Amino acid sequence: MTVRPTPSHNPPAEPATTGPATAGSTDAPAPTEPAITPDLSSRDPNWWRQAVIYQVYPRSFADADGDGLGDLRGLTRRLAHLATLGVDAVWLSPFYPSELADGGYDVADYRDVDPRLGTLEDFDVMVAEAHRLGLKVLVDLVPNHSSHQHVWFQEALRAGPGSPARDRYVFRDGRGRGGELPPSDWHSVFGGSAWQRVPDGQWYLHLFAPEQPDLNWDNEEVRDDFRTTLRFWADRGVDGFRVDVAHALTKDLTEPLRDLGDLAAGGDEALEGMAPGEHPLYDRDEVHEIYRDWRKILDSYSPPRMAVAEAWVPGERRVLYARPDELGQAFNFEYLRTPWDAEELREVITSALEQARAAGASATWVLSNHDVIRHATRLALPPGTDPDAWLLSGGREPAVDAALGLRRARASTLLMLALPGCAYLYQGEELGLPEVADLPADVLRDPIWEQTGHARKGRDGCRVPLPWTRGGADFGFGFASADGTPWLPQPEWFSELSVEAQDGVDGSALELYRAALRVRRGLLSADESLTWLDGAAPGVLHFSRPGGWQVVANTGPTPVPLPTGRTLLASGPLDGGGTVLPPDTTVWLKA
Ligand code: GLC
Repeated sequence: MTVRPTPSHNPPAEPATTGPATAGSTDAPAPTEPAITPDLSSRDPNWWRQAVIYQVYPRSFADADGDGLGDLRGLTRRLAHLATLGVDAVWLSPFYPSELADGGYDVADYRDVDPRLGTLEDFDVMVAEAHRLGLKVLVDLVPNHSSHQHVWFQEALRAGPGSPARDRYVFRDGRGRGGELPPSDWHSVFGGSAWQRVPDGQWYLHLFAPEQPDLNWDNEEVRDDFRTTLRFWADRGVDGFRVDVAHALTKDLTEPLRDLGDLAAGGDEALEGMAPGEHPLYDRDEVHEIYRDWRKILDSYSPPRMAVAEAWVPGERRVLYARPDELGQAFNFEYLRTPWDAEELREVITSALEQARAAGASATWVLSNHDVIRHATRLALPPGTDPDAWLLSGGREPAVDAALGLRRARASTLLMLALPGCAYLYQGEELGLPEVADLPADVLRDPIWEQTGHARKGRDGCRVPLPWTRGGADFGFGFASADGTPWLPQPEWFSELSVEAQDGVDGSALELYRAALRVRRGLLSADESLTWLDGAAPGVLHFSRPGGWQVVANTGPTPVPLPTGRTLLASGPLDGGGTVLPPDTTVWLKA
């Protein structure tokens, strides 16, 4: 099924940016041969500090068996695309057994593969192929909550109040005379109460969907089981872990539970209204013990396994998760949330680098992931737009200038890839994909839609299966399918943004990403410093990196003269015979 075509999302026809194009255009859906084979013998324990890591949302990447759901064998067949792109590693969102109440972040078994996505053997084949291509592999660990289908939760339901099985989760009696009221006023991040009642009258805590009961991290069995899970995947050869909701594991559950009043509905945003370490649910100081414990396990491997925390907490607290004796990295969501504005970007970049340096951590940068509106759309939303209201309007109010979004996305990506540290890419951004904002209500799968009583559409618009080919019922998402219907419908305009449509085409988003990663690789040194250069015009960022690499980004409305130097790469066409930087454009120069 496809949704109605929307007005043109054509990549603006742009003349060639610098850097030779890679492979020529292909007629067949088969991936091109990788152009780059990174050094397979590298055992560098710090490979991740300045890596480019590509997030795969497995259900939407490639579908080998044609059932409409992406799978591991599909990923394996498309790994060459990632090697050709030039990334260092691939991070897989959850592929574990799950009823998909939250897109796989509801895990029923932490040490297996969802049969619809393959088998452990398929996983091993995928890792071996990735390693053969010089790609590292990260898996997603979801320790805050399991699925309600997990054997432990099923056992807890059967075992009854006060049992050791219930102690692995957070069960409490309710308030009110008959316990008919939830034990506290806490809200779920997805909307509604964070408590769900079970038939015997007790309530359990779920910070996300009711199908995702929170685990009790004061329970030693829970801690031990996750040590086993870490070893299980590290033993299978994975190179690192992304830790889901890393800031929520430990909670202040002392009785009576502390109501949050006005802050209850804010999820982790409520942190801003509280002193550090004060929130009963998020970013508690005790959580760091867990990561210090995990670091010992990760370091027992050679090379040590890396890890990155998903922690939506302010920067100075976020880097604590990234200390060398903890996870090493934490996603920098402040950067993702910063508008395309030179002054604000400079502030966020400067403080992120200072915070990372002070903590001994590696800085990270990210613009898109499976939880946010894709940056090719987000950066063109008029200031003050409420993203939820915009999505509810099907992406029509206000109208978004797709060409502007793509121009800014290209410019902001080139800026990000020049920053010291590790960059995370999200599948499809290398195609300049915008958000699919007009998914009809009856196809939505994100639990946010139902849990908010249809007030928020949620995150499906960035999770639509990728277009690999111009044509075909599912634009090459499925290999085997004659009639495989992708689990989310793809819009008609995916055709012109497909890999096939961009492969070898000068000026395409795909060729820009390939060129940027290739040039970046040649420019990087072990020196992770950045120097702001004086005299930049308002709206312009200008900095240098070691080795004479200079970066100029124009976020303002006025063209500006470029400093002297040899242009290595530009995110769009330059003016004045290459001497003038137009608005919404970034350039890399060699001084
Ligand atoms: C993280 C994931 C998100 C998921 C949530 C609950 O924020 O990125 O997709 O819904 O955790 O697991």
